Amino acid sequence: AKVIYVGSAGDEYAVEAAVGDTVMGAAVRNGVPGIVAECGGNCSCATCHVWVDPQFADRTGPVQEMEEDLLDMAVSERRATSRLACQIRITEELDGLTVEIPPEQP
Ligand code: FES
Repeated sequence: AKVIYVGSAGDEYAVEAAVGDTVMGAAVRNGVPGIVAECGGNCSCATCHVWVDPQFADRTGPVQEMEEDLLDMAVSERRATSRLACQIRITEELDGLTVEIPPEQP
């Protein structure tokens, strides 16, 4: 499935992500800048924060409790479409998924 990452400068990265991978994993494996993913996908760092295109928001699954708490601690503004990229699993349904990368993820 194709995932498109949009950087804060408007730069775009289109990546072919494997079903079962995560939005974070696909970014890291393809060298997309701005997804730091310090904890390696354990849902404990919030440096993989993304803003999901509202069109896809109902296909990315529910926010779990741990993710909920971490999103509150993310450095960049939390929006209604904020997610942790390591908690979104790629499915065929998500083909074309577009996510915005916040400007800061220390
Ligand atoms: Fe750390 Fe997602 S990679 S919370």
